Amino acid sequence: MTTTSLTHDPAGFYDRLGPLHYEPLWRMRGALPLEPVTAMVPHLWRYDEVRPLIMEAGDLITAEEAERRVLALKNPGTATHEVARATDTLWAAIQLVLPGEVAPAHRHTPAALRFVIEGEGGYTTVNDERYDMRPGDLILTPNWSWHSHGHTGGAPMLWLDGLDLPLSHALHTVFAEFPPAEARRPAASPAGPARTHAFPFAEMRAALEARRDEPGDPYDDILIEYLHPETSGPVMPTISAAIQLLRPGVRTAAHRHTHSVVYHVAAGSGWSTIGGQRFEWTRGDTFAVPCWVPHRHANPTNGDALLFSFSDAPVLDALGLSRESAVDEEIH
Ligand SMILES: [Fe+2]
Ligand SMILES: [Fe+2]
Repeated sequence: MTTTSLTHDPAGFYDRLGPLHYEPLWRMRGALPLEPVTAMVPHLWRYDEVRPLIMEAGDLITAEEAERRVLALKNPGTATHEVARATDTLWAAIQLVLPGEVAPAHRHTPAALRFVIEGEGGYTTVNDERYDMRPGDLILTPNWSWHSHGHTGGAPMLWLDGLDLPLSHALHTVFAEFPPAEARRPAASPAGPARTHAFPFAEMRAALEARRDEPGDPYDDILIEYLHPETSGPVMPTISAAIQLLRPGVRTAAHRHTHSVVYHVAAGSGWSTIGGQRFEWTRGDTFAVPCWVPHRHANPTNGDALLFSFSDAPVLDALGLSRESAVDEEIH
């Protein structure tokens, strides 16, 4: 096909198609790229930047007024008409609940998880089961489950929210329910033993420690996926979550995959290269690895580094769209 044949149009054929709602595939760019293309870019949000901002929001608006006092981590590649997103499919945000505050119960079809960054005395209720939140704990609020947050401690509670919100928007499957405020107080029931929706940090840390002397994964070193206690599969149908130990001195190999990932630094410090860009990270930082972008991680320190992460891998697995490959990448 020559360029001439793409532009040759003596009868004004192309001009007539638009108003009639047709488009010729042979002039469509990007319908079938040879590899995944995304507008999302690698990005890191520093905790020492976002923490003062969310604390400032604490003076500006109450959790109840805001419904949720949340700052979304918005990928610079997000289009103006799109809901904020960390990657094409994943929402990440920092949430603040101050002592004595309540974030009233609501529910929605987008599934969510919380990874606690700091604070004691906060809790989340999920369908009337109450979970106390401690740093490093993971709490799930699956699709359409009622959830609320409260705080009986003395210092601010901050956590990372992870949702499949952009995916839910892309699929046009978002439903939400916000009952009148008086009906939405958090459940008064004490913290129960039921563990369907919570993973204490101490247990995950111990599990990583037990595997410290294993060879480790070339791309992720010592990684443990959080598994749903009943299905032994991903924690939720649309989101998987993992915690990994990068042992002192470890530098992983580079790879890429079609699932996108949001990482959050649970402990230690190190660096990752994402798409050839180097990001230094330390505790509390959050960074995005968009789909099909090469990445590797390193812990050059003498102490452990722990990365929490969540991804859309279960969706791609279910749809037969998962691909992964090793990448020869220059060390930056
Ligand atoms: Fe929510
Ligand atoms: Fe990876």
